[in-house]
Amino acid sequence: LGPAIRYAEQGFPADRRMLLGLRFRRKAAEASPAFMAIFYPDGAAISEGAVVRQPDLAATLRLIAEQGPSGFYSGPLADRLVDGVRAAGGIWTRDDLRAYRVVEREPIAFEYRGVRIVSAPPPSSGGVAMANIFNILSNFDLQDIAGADRSHLIIEAMRRAYRDRAQYLGDSDFVDVPVALLTHPFYARGQATSIRADVATPSESLPGIWPAGQKGTNTTHFSVLDEEGNRVASTNTINTWYGSAFMPPGTGVILNNEMDDFSIKPGVPNGFELIGARANAVEAGKRPLSSMSPTFLESERGVAILGTPGGSRIITMVLRSALAWINGASAADMVAMKRFHHQYFPDTVEYETGAFEADEVARLTEMGHTLRESRRPFGNMNVVTWDFGNGRVDAASDPRGLVEGRVY
Ligand code: DON
Repeated sequence: LGPAIRYAEQGFPADRRMLLGLRFRRKAAEASPAFMAIFYPDGAAISEGAVVRQPDLAATLRLIAEQGPSGFYSGPLADRLVDGVRAAGGIWTRDDLRAYRVVEREPIAFEYRGVRIVSAPPPSSGGVAMANIFNILSNFDLQDIAGADRSHLIIEAMRRAYRDRAQYLGDSDFVDVPVALLTHPFYARGQATSIRADVATPSESLPGIWPAGQKGTNTTHFSVLDEEGNRVASTNTINTWYGSAFMPPGTGVILNNEMDDFSIKPGVPNGFELIGARANAVEAGKRPLSSMSPTFLESERGVAILGTPGGSRIITMVLRSALAWINGASAADMVAMKRFHHQYFPDTVEYETGAFEADEVARLTEMGHTLRESRRPFGNMNVVTWDFGNGRVDAASDPRGLVEGRVY
C-alpha cells in the first residue's frame, strides 16, 4: 500500500482522462460534498495538471496497512462509512460491513487448441462465457477461415454465450449455475450445429429473455509476472466512472455502483445494455454478476497474462486477444487490435472503427448482422507475455489508455 498512500498524501496531477470522467459524473457528485471537495474544488472539475490530494484516503489506506481488512470493515472507519451512507439516505448497517468476506473460488480452466486457459469463475461470467465461446469455435477450422466468414463465426459464438449469461449466470452461492454443462464441449457442439455459415442468427430466434423496451463506465486491469514466474491477472472495478461518485465524509473512499451489475428485472437492460434473469436478481448478501475476466493462457509457446476494463465487452476483448495470441500475436498486437463485440441483446455487432474492412462490413450485413460502429474505443488492456522458446518477456499497455475521449 506504500505507493498508494504516497499518491494519496502527496497527490498526483489530474490528467485529461480523469477530467472527462468527472464531466460525466458532475450531477451524481452533487449528492456527495466529500467527493465534490476533492474532485470539484470551487464547484468546477479540478483543472488539468492540478494536484489531486486525498488526505482522508491516505489515512484510510494507512489503517488498512496497519490492521488489515478489519481496519476497514470494522472499527472507526467502518462507522464513518456507515454513518456517511445513512446520513445520505442509504441503508447500510455495521453488520453488513462486519459480515463481509472475500470468497475464493476455483478458477474456470479449459483447453483450446492445446492452450490451457484459466479465467474468472462466477460471480464473474468471464470464464464460463469464454470457455463456451472457445468450445463452440473448436467445432470449426478457424485457422483456415478468414475475413467476414471468420468474424461471423466468432460473433455467432459470442451471441450464444451471452444468451446463456443472461439466462443462467449469477452468484453460485445463491443460484445453481450449470457451470459443468455450459463449459462442456458436447454442449458447445450442439450450439455449433445451430450456426449457419452464411446467415446471422437473430438473437430473438434463440429461446431466452428478451429486453424489456430498448435503451443505452471505471475499471482497472493489471497483468504481473515476477522473476520466479509467479503471475497475477487482476481486474478491479467500482463499475462506472467514479462508481456512485459518493464518498462518506472523512473516509476518502469512493463507493461503487455495482448494483447495476444485477438484473433488476428480467429483460431490463443495465448500464452496459446487458439483460439477465432470476439467476442474477438482487438478493441480500448476493454478489452481482460481473464480466471481469482476468486470464492466463498457458501452452508450450509460453504464458500470456491479460485482462481489461470495458464492462460487458471485457469477455469478448479478452477472447479475441487470446485467439490472436494462440495464432502467434505479440503482446503489442493483442492490446492494439481493433475490437468487435456481440452480447446477444442488443442484437448488433458493435465494432471499433477499422475492425472490419469495407467488404467485410458489406458481407456481414448481407448475412443479416446489424453492425454498429462504436462512438468510443473499447477497453484498456494490459498484457504480459513470456515466450518459453527464447525466454523473452514482453509487456504492452493499450494505446487506448493514452488517447483522448471516452473509452468503455
Ligand atoms: O464487473 C463488471 O462486469 C463491471 N462492473 C465492469 C465495469 C467496467 O469494466 C467499467 N469500465 N469501463
